[in-house]
Amino acid sequence: MGLFTLLSDTIYSYTGLSPVAFFTILALMVGIYHLVSGMFVSPEAIAAKTSLPPEPELPPGPIQIGEVTLDELRTYDGSDPKKPLLMAIKGNIYDVSRSRMFYGPGGPYALFAGRETSRALALMSFDHNDLTSNLDGLSASELEVLQDWEEKFKEKYVKVGHLVSEGITNSDNNLDDEKAGALQEPGPDTKSTVESLESK
Ligand code: HEM
Repeated sequence: MGLFTLLSDTIYSYTGLSPVAFFTILALMVGIYHLVSGMFVSPEAIAAKTSLPPEPELPPGPIQIGEVTLDELRTYDGSDPKKPLLMAIKGNIYDVSRSRMFYGPGGPYALFAGRETSRALALMSFDHNDLTSNLDGLSASELEVLQDWEEKFKEKYVKVGHLVSEGITNSDNNLDDEKAGALQEPGPDTKSTVESLESK
């Protein structure tokens, strides 16, 4: 009891306030301090406090890759989210990353990512055997369809490189002559060879 009286007297003599009034004002000041200082916390400190997972690292804008082989192109099929999504038409490579919903994994046109798509686009085909630059036997109207696609891609996407000719690619990959021939001329009887080669 003596301690309480001493405390009350001290507070009164210094502030002229009763202990109840003194502690109420003190509590209000602490509350206001926290409120005001909270308004000036840096966004980094807020982000550090929240336990949200970090943003996935997005690939930067289109980057020129120059000459690449078909095999190198295959690595740009969206399986590595840090790499851009690329797609080739008539040997020209376009960065289609901005349309990840079309060409990214699970997208309706994911099969085109990382591939040379000329024949497939000309024929409006989703057949893996048509993922080639080989245009043999196509009609004038099919070639026109391909032309339209090419124009659309030139307008919409950035060209970032081009494929080295398939002949060079084949020798790069040390394929034997028979397989190299099959890649260049996928006739009906060689389609299975091409499929097995291209699905590697
Ligand atoms: C039932 C058949 C199909 C429907 C309903 C359909 C529908 C669509 C739609 C709505 C778009 C988005 C257009 C845009 O916003 O620019 C699109 C884009 C596209 N379609 Fe199809 N499509 C069909 C078949 C095909 C076929 C057979 C192919 C080729 C084999 C194809 C290739 C493409 C490509 C490459 C794009 C993306 C173009 C871009 O990157 O802007 N589609 N399709």
